[in-house]
Amino acid sequence: MLPCLILLSVLGSAVAGPVYPRANASSCACGYRDSAGHVWRESILSDFSGSDALSVVNENWAVETWGQQRQYHYMQYSSANVYNYNNALAIRTQGWSGNGSVYTGEIQTNRDDILYGTFRMYASIPTTPGVCFGFFSYYSDSQESDIEFLTNVTDYSHIVHYTNQPGNTSSNRKNVTVSNTLTSFNEHRFDWLAKETIFYVNGKETTSMTADVPNEASHILANVWSDGNPTWSYGPPAKDAVATVQYINLYFNSTSYNETAFNSNCTEAGKPAVCQV
Ligand SMILES: *[C@@H]1O[C@H](CO)[C@@H](O)[C@H](O)[C@H]1NC(C)=O
Ligand SMILES: *[C@@H]1O[C@H](CO)[C@@H](O)[C@H](O)[C@H]1NC(C)=O
Ligand SMILES: *[C@@H]1O[C@H](CO)[C@@H](O)[C@H](O)[C@H]1NC(C)=O
Ligand SMILES: *[C@@H]1O[C@H](CO)[C@@H](O)[C@H](O)[C@H]1NC(C)=O
Ligand SMILES: *[C@@H]1O[C@H](CO)[C@@H](O)[C@H](O)[C@H]1NC(C)=O
Ligand SMILES: *[C@@H]1O[C@H](CO)[C@@H](O)[C@H](O)[C@H]1NC(C)=O
Ligand SMILES: *[C@@H]1O[C@H](CO)[C@@H](O)[C@H](O)[C@H]1NC(C)=O
Ligand SMILES: *[C@@H]1O[C@H](CO)[C@@H](O)[C@H](O)[C@H]1NC(C)=O
Repeated sequence: MLPCLILLSVLGSAVAGPVYPRANASSCACGYRDSAGHVWRESILSDFSGSDALSVVNENWAVETWGQQRQYHYMQYSSANVYNYNNALAIRTQGWSGNGSVYTGEIQTNRDDILYGTFRMYASIPTTPGVCFGFFSYYSDSQESDIEFLTNVTDYSHIVHYTNQPGNTSSNRKNVTVSNTLTSFNEHRFDWLAKETIFYVNGKETTSMTADVPNEASHILANVWSDGNPTWSYGPPAKDAVATVQYINLYFNSTSYNETAFNSNCTEAGKPAVCQV
């Protein structure tokens, strides 16, 4: 009786409207709903867990190679510091010889039109003292939300540094001590909303901020760096400092794909269920 009714209702809806391609679970044309109930239109899913993480990087990210004279040292991003490692992606700052440039690693999304979303990185932090490992959005030095790990601070394997730049007050900068061991793999997440940034470890909220929430379309980045500054990164590290990243999943809205275009794509795809993330 019941199966019959379901069949009838499926047939009923099929004849009632235009014939759409059959929707299926792998189509997320109607977007993604996150655990807080927010809907995002687009995604960039980078699974680095195969044997060739670099080819996954190259689909959506640029490996950075810029350099800059800092107060204490010249800091040089190098493609040698983003590489395949342990069936994941390594991002590294190289052990410093004691003289000359500090060689660091960074990836940045090709897209710079990302405006709000939920951003998740599954990673283990470096164990060598003297680097900053960051996962963040960036438009400018005052339009930036950061998750950072500082390997030179006491108890660094349990402290996460959260910031909405300029990060100069107690309401736009927070250090949170977590029970998770950050040198093991954990999912670090920030939800960038119009009026609030909310931060998570393994899906559990750690803190949130309403001060200085960025409002400009941005890139998303991950890096491991040191400039020797004794108020932040410390270092440079004596040995290689390596972060290992298994995935970065970005679900977001952008300035290139508006609500109207999104709704029309969703309809054209036959209105498949919103994907839960
Ligand atoms: C599911 O939908 C997507 C997008 O419409 C399509 O590319 C894919 O081939 C479909 N998969 C199956 C198994 O039908
Ligand atoms: C550091 O390197 C510079 C340039 O390569 C060299 O002139 C200088 O002597 C070096 N200093 C030390 C302490 O090794
Ligand atoms: C941090 O770095 C300084 C110098 O760079 C060093 O003296 C200190 O021992 C380091 N602290 C920790 C906790 O490693
Ligand atoms: C924080 O930095 C911003 C931007 O530079 C500045 O306008 C503000 O006054 C600073 N706040 C404090 C408390 O220093
Ligand atoms: C957070 O940690 C950083 C680095 O150790 C330190 O400079 C800063 O003062 C701390 N902030 C707070 C609010 O404790
Ligand atoms: C939305 O995007 C479509 C396709 O790019 C464009 O034609 C339309 O003008 C945009 N609508 C708004 C309100 O920006
Ligand atoms: C993101 O896009 C969805 C779908 O268009 C919309 O409902 C939501 O309000 C947008 N979120 C933000 C923060 O703009
Ligand atoms: C929207 O649909 C168009 C036409 O099918 C397709 O080319 C485009 O990739 C879709 N946009 C997104 C962001 O899914």
